[in-house]
Amino acid sequence: MNTNGKVPLVDLVTLHQELEDELVSVFRSALNTAGFVGGPMVEGFEREFAEYCDAQHCVGVGSGTDALRFALIASGVQPGDTVVTVPNTFIATTEAISQAGARPDFVDIDERTYTMDPEKLSAYLETECTPDQRTGRVVSKRTGSLVTAVIPVHLYGQMADMDPILELAARYELIVIEDACQAHGAEYLSSREGRWRRAGSMGRAAAFSFYPGKNLGACGEAGAITTDDEGLARRCQMLRDHGQPRKYSHDIEGYNGRLDAIQAGFLRVKLRHLAKWTDQRRERARRYDELFAHAVGTLILPYVPWWSRPVHHLYVVRVLDRERLQKDLAAAGIGTGIHYPVPLHLAKAYESLGFRVGHFPVAEQAASQVLSLPLFPELSPEQQHRVVTILLRSLAHSRALSATGSVPVTSP
Ligand SMILES: Cc1ncc(COP(=O)(O)O)c(C=O)c1O
Repeated sequence: MNTNGKVPLVDLVTLHQELEDELVSVFRSALNTAGFVGGPMVEGFEREFAEYCDAQHCVGVGSGTDALRFALIASGVQPGDTVVTVPNTFIATTEAISQAGARPDFVDIDERTYTMDPEKLSAYLETECTPDQRTGRVVSKRTGSLVTAVIPVHLYGQMADMDPILELAARYELIVIEDACQAHGAEYLSSREGRWRRAGSMGRAAAFSFYPGKNLGACGEAGAITTDDEGLARRCQMLRDHGQPRKYSHDIEGYNGRLDAIQAGFLRVKLRHLAKWTDQRRERARRYDELFAHAVGTLILPYVPWWSRPVHHLYVVRVLDRERLQKDLAAAGIGTGIHYPVPLHLAKAYESLGFRVGHFPVAEQAASQVLSLPLFPELSPEQQHRVVTILLRSLAHSRALSATGSVPVTSP
């Protein structure tokens, strides 16, 4: 435990101190060759990360947001199309939709996994869309445009329920882009295929973020697209590099969205440790589950369905009196986070879309109750014990204060 008893939400310092020699040698080799953009470090990382995700291709880009935007454009989403996702994600998911020229629309989430509810997606496609007379494809009644893609978000390190989403996508001719920005190495047991599938290998393409706090994080900004579609990978390579397949031969207008070579080198070093870090995260999540086992009824623990092997990017509980709990934890030096406090349909940025409170009640309730507890590979048993002790003490105190006695949050 830190000598001052503090427990941060995430500890990025210890990890980098441990890897310092390896990371410095990457930096030295970049200085020696001046290979800062593209080249063997980027290509090496792309090969290794594609293999890690069981995908044919990986295209390194500047961020997870770039990855989502390029994947949407390269997969054929057209300006004016509607792209469906969930409201409880980081705004980058919907920013990418808008930046690709499309319009975001939402379906609600499953109350236990917090990922896209396939039944709500089915209901959306059947009742909130109408078939286009000419093509038979579906048009959103709200946006008035063709629904061409869906982005399931693998939130907190757990994949969305992909089998039914892929079935609906096939039936309604939707492109599936996985938002795997929080799910490096997460797995899904596909009943259709009778095998475990990795995040990044199930949709037409997937987007990963390597923001420093992610399970696989760069020492700056970075992201990647994975796909089995070679043409899509080539288009992403052009999009990230000003639309040029060769220098100064611009086939289309693109972006400056390349993966920095030094970051690629850092990511190669870290990728070698990712399986160990994932095991450590799983062990720590299991320990929280055990320590909280007798408190179920006063808080809701993360739910892992039989078809999921999550990588625990975040350990998120649900509580009623979150503000008070967060204050008590902060007073004890314990860091927490809220992912995310405002569901996107209610964000100011999307006021013009016309959504109101009550449109996506499950996402809204989750947004008001979720609390992310400290979780990182180096988190010690003593630190976890302290988090749990303070949290349970605060919950007991709030119940004692409550005039009506306990108001338990029941399991969904
Ligand atoms: C679910 C989700 N999507 C997209 C992104 C965007 O990634 P980046 O910050 O690398 O652009 C993030 C990163 O926070 C994320 O968590």
